[in-house]
Amino acid sequence: MTSINSNSNSSSPLEQRQPRRLLVTGGAGFIGANFVQHWAETHPDDRIVVLDALTYAGNRSNLQSLENHANLRFVQGDICDRAAVETLLQAEEIDIIAHFAAESHVDRSILGPGAFIQTNVVGTFTLLESARHLWQNRSDVRFLHVSTDEVYGSLGPDDPAFTETTPYAPNSPYSASKAGSDHLVRAYYHTYGLPTLITNCSNNYGPYHFPEKLIPLMCINILLGKPLPVYGDGQNVRDWLYVRDHCRALDRVIHAGSPGQTYNVGGNNEVKNIDLVHIICELMDELAPSLPVRPAKDLITFVKDRPGHDRRYAIDASKIETALGWTPSVTLEEGLRQTIVWYLKHSNWWQPLLSEAYQDYYQKVYAHS
Ligand code: NAD
Ligand code: DAU
Repeated sequence: MTSINSNSNSSSPLEQRQPRRLLVTGGAGFIGANFVQHWAETHPDDRIVVLDALTYAGNRSNLQSLENHANLRFVQGDICDRAAVETLLQAEEIDIIAHFAAESHVDRSILGPGAFIQTNVVGTFTLLESARHLWQNRSDVRFLHVSTDEVYGSLGPDDPAFTETTPYAPNSPYSASKAGSDHLVRAYYHTYGLPTLITNCSNNYGPYHFPEKLIPLMCINILLGKPLPVYGDGQNVRDWLYVRDHCRALDRVIHAGSPGQTYNVGGNNEVKNIDLVHIICELMDELAPSLPVRPAKDLITFVKDRPGHDRRYAIDASKIETALGWTPSVTLEEGLRQTIVWYLKHSNWWQPLLSEAYQDYYQKVYAHS
């Protein structure tokens, strides 16, 4: 690798290259698909290649609105397949990798951690090796690794929010596998000069969120008149960010972030789970034309806690705000309204996802509650 320009300015070699050619791993998943839509809308001349294995969480229909976008190509494939990854990077002359592909659900990582180590650690390693091999002597390229605040572990009620220098203390197989991948990405910058960027973001929500996650699960169960399972005492705190705000942050980091740097991304919206569920119930009562059970809050059921359940996450996002001028634009109230309206209008999207395999998973997590 040649020396890397670490200035956050708009005349970087990456900026001068137009159009850019992106590989988006995991682009058929929740955040990846929102990111592809964001990028196609804001940089329509850029080439976007999506590489996605279409696991249970990947869905071709998440990209349906871009079917006629001339600069988008979808490739079904595994990030652990080095030959396939290298062929794609070479054939498409990729200069930006936006790496979203992962096993992403904590409860599934507790049921079976193996897939998390394979995709999150081995898959990220495979991408890094491929990029190192093919991007030798190039500073006009970027490897963005999309990671999570969960790598920092759990906060007490009065602890300060996570900063980029908070020591890693992952508590679930999911967060441990993401922490491992973050360390590999960091090492490839320091050892090989690969122009990497890492983002650690809090809980996203919005359209295309798979039904297993808290917010879509609550919305869908309310529509079906099913119990709303709240883990433990419901006092766990998460920070919520509307997914399109996350995508804007990632765009800023790709364009103006300094290689080798980490940026925390958060919504400044710390909420206890039980309070969030109450807000969702009230919005559903207001927005849904008909509900099997009204008020929806009558469905709230406290269930057995998640093992190793982190108590609180909070993000200090001052670095990305100051260095790159990013701030969230959607309030939690607005974002939840938009999300709920989206789920009300898109039962044709979420109904097929409640498959037999999903019911098996649901049984395993919630049966002994
Ligand atoms: P998701 O589970 O919705 O999507 C993951 C996507 O990756 C799916 O399309 C899946 O098919 C694909 N994939 C899985 N294994 C693959 C493999 N081996 N090869 C190729 N593709 C594969 O996840 P998400 O919620 O969109 O999260 C995306 C990224 O953002 C993850 O890296 C996650 O750790 C991170 N993140 C998520 C959140 C959140 O709140 N959802 C917050 C911060 C960071
Ligand atoms: O913080 C970022 C992380 O946010 C991402 O890295 C993960 O990929 C993403 O899945 C998310 O992890 P969480 O475990 O925080 O999200 P989840 O939606 O699974 O749960 C949110 C909170 O709600 C958590 O405290 C557990 C609780 N919960 C969840 C479910 C599914 C319940 O009380 N009941 C439930 O049924």
